[in-house]
Formats: sequence, C-alpha cells, structure tokens
Amino acid sequence: MSAISLQAIKKSFGKTNVLAGIDLDIRDGEFLTLVGPSGCGKSTLLRILAGLEAPSSGSVMIGGKTVNAVRPADRNLAMVFQSYALYPHLTIAQNMMTPLRLRDLSFTERLPIIGPMLAREKYRKLQHQVQETAKVLRIDPLLDRKPGQLSGGQRQRAALGRAMVRKPIAFLMDEPLSNLDAALRIHMRSELAELHRSLGTTFVYVTHDQAEALTMSTRMAVMMDGHILQLGPPDEVYNNPNHIRVAEFVGSPKINLLPGELDTSGYVRFGDTVLSRISAPGSAISVTIGLRAEHLALVEPSDASALQGRVAYKENLGSDLFLHATMKDGAQRVVIRATPQEAATVSVGNDISFARKRGEAMVFGQDGNRIGLADIVPDSMSEVA
Ligand SMILES: Nc1ncnc2c1ncn2[C@@H]1O[C@H](COP(=O)(O)OP(=O)(O)O)[C@@H](O)[C@H]1O
Ligand SMILES: [Mg+2]
Repeated sequence: MSAISLQAIKKSFGKTNVLAGIDLDIRDGEFLTLVGPSGCGKSTLLRILAGLEAPSSGSVMIGGKTVNAVRPADRNLAMVFQSYALYPHLTIAQNMMTPLRLRDLSFTERLPIIGPMLAREKYRKLQHQVQETAKVLRIDPLLDRKPGQLSGGQRQRAALGRAMVRKPIAFLMDEPLSNLDAALRIHMRSELAELHRSLGTTFVYVTHDQAEALTMSTRMAVMMDGHILQLGPPDEVYNNPNHIRVAEFVGSPKINLLPGELDTSGYVRFGDTVLSRISAPGSAISVTIGLRAEHLALVEPSDASALQGRVAYKENLGSDLFLHATMKDGAQRVVIRATPQEAATVSVGNDISFARKRGEAMVFGQDGNRIGLADIVPDSMSEVA
C-alpha cells in the first residue's frame, strides 16, 4: 500500500476549476515530482496534501487513513517553503530546535534559563537530534551562526534541517530552488537527490522546471490544466511521452514536431519521406511526428530517407552542439544534435541532409494522444520511400 494517496481530488476557486479529479499514489520513500507549466495546479495539489487547503471533493489518505479532517500540524508532513522562513534572530541550532521544543517540551520546560535546568536530559536529547540532523546535511559547523551569515544554499539546508528534526512521513517542497542563482540551483539538484537517497524519506516536490524533474525524481507526474497527463520515471516520460503536450514540455531543446500523414499501410510520411511504420489506421489520417534532436543525425544527401534543411543557427553548448535548420519554405524549424566534429563541416546557410535514426519517431494523433509504434519494419524505410 502506498504511504500517501490522493483520490479523485477536485478543487475549484469560485468558478475556476483548478484540479479536475486527481488520482495519485505516492510510494513510500520515492522522490515524486509534480511538474507542469505555471498555473496548472501543482501548488494547490501540494497544499491540499499538506492540509493547508481543503479539496472541493476527494480524499487525502496517509497510511491508509483519510486525513481530510486532520489539521496540517498533525499530518506529520514537513512543508519546506520557497522562502526559507528561518527566524533571523536565532542561531541555526536554535532554529532547528524550535519544532522539537514545541513538540516535546511542556510550557514550563520551554521557559528560558529555568526550562533547561528542569529538563536537562530532554534538552540534551534534543541537542543530540539537532546535531545528528545537521551532520547529515553537513551544516554542523554552522550551527552557531545566524541565517544572515549563511549562503543561499546553506540557508536552504538549514530550513530543511528544521523540517527534518521531526522525522516527518514526507517532505513537501514547492519550488524550493527558485530563489537561487542558476549555478547554485543546478548544484542543489544533486544535493537534494543525494539527501533523498541518504534519508530514504518520501519527497513530494513541485517545480515548473522540467530539467529539475528529469534529474531528481524517482517518478514525475506531468500536470496540465488540473490533470496528470503522465506519471512515470523520467526516462519513460522523456522517451515515451503519451501525449504531445508531455513530449513538448519535457526535454531541452524542445522536441521537433513535423506535420505528417499516416497512410492506410501504416507508413508515417513527412512529405515524400517515410519516417516510420506503425499500426495502420482504417483510413489515412493527419498526424504530428515527434523527433528529438538526438534522434536525428546528419547523413549523405543520397540517403533515401533523408530530409533536407538549411542551417540557420549553430548552438554550441560545449559538449553538445545543436544545428537549427529550416525546412521547406522556411516555416518549419528543426533542431539536430551533432558532434562538434560533424558541426565543424557545416556553416550557417549551408544545405544539410539529415535523417531519423531507426525506431525513434513518435506519432501523435489530432487529439494529441500518442499512436503506438506497433511493429516497425526494421529496414524498409529506404525501400518504400
Ligand atoms: N486562493 C486562490 N484563489 C483563487 N484562485 C487561486 C487560488 N490559489 C490558486 N488559484 C488559481 O489556481 C490556479 C492554479 O494555481 P497553482 O496551484 O498555484 O498553480 P501552479 O503552482 O501550478 O503554478 C491558478 O490559476 C491560480 O490563479
Ligand atoms: Mg506554484
């Protein structure tokens, strides 16, 4: 049984329907990312899970029990907010101690000076817990500092530390990296993924940044307009998107989309070129063909399945190089990944030939749903073209 389960969650604000019936089982210990464009309802869903917002209908279950009526503080979930929300006048140790003091000490025991004298053992235990948590986060040398004396990344970890000391069932994070500069944001991705591994606690992570979702998650749920369009491991979502909107949202550079036809024999055609063969429809239909930049390669112009384009821009990212080419009348743009060696042979304005590497085209119907690659005929491309 999954630790956390959202069942048929709907939410409207007045006449605005924000969540359209979300079902989501979050597995124990996974790093689950809710990812989607701004305004799709990610924060609302997370807040409903945390208990900060009530669903219009549906249930939130934790450990098999419905918690709709349980207060946020009693759900034992730790919400880590975007703003670090550390007390500026307290040291990091004191900040981390605060939730423990509130939970484990009586009013008298919390009093300054008298409290620690009355409950020496308890204080020692709490200090030990703070120390241990700080070690995991590698902020133990910073415990005596105040938040103002820490870098953005250190503050982030301190805020996490304050949430961690209570040993929650899950950490809920809403765009926790969005206040950081680009370099630190990328560094924190690996820190968070590593932290998740070492803690083994469930993370539910909200972001609009598909790269964050791809790099950190065990599974990612791609949300659009209050629906989860696809839920799966990053590899699966990237390589096997079930909808054109998922294909477009995930991956950088953006997937190439070409208008094509699926004929009655199941051949997927872009103009005169056959790109794939999939299960044949009853009658010919218009489709959209999705090709990722890395699924295209430069070929000889004589290659029968080659597409023609003209280089408009060379995007050099150091390890990767992307050729942006225009096709046909110039309206269609395509991005092709090339090695620096290959790219050295072409210049802006050159005509190039490129082709799909075998087995990689995705085909989407007019409704945006993926049409399955039933039985690709391995070597037939050049023969039928
Ligand atoms: N308290 C609220 N009152 C009215 N509308 C809201 C409220 N909270 C969120 N919304 C609306 O719900 C939609 C989803 O918001 P949100 O969950 O914050 O999206 P995301 O986090 O994916 O960017 C938005 O259109 C937003 O304006
Ligand atoms: Mg949000």
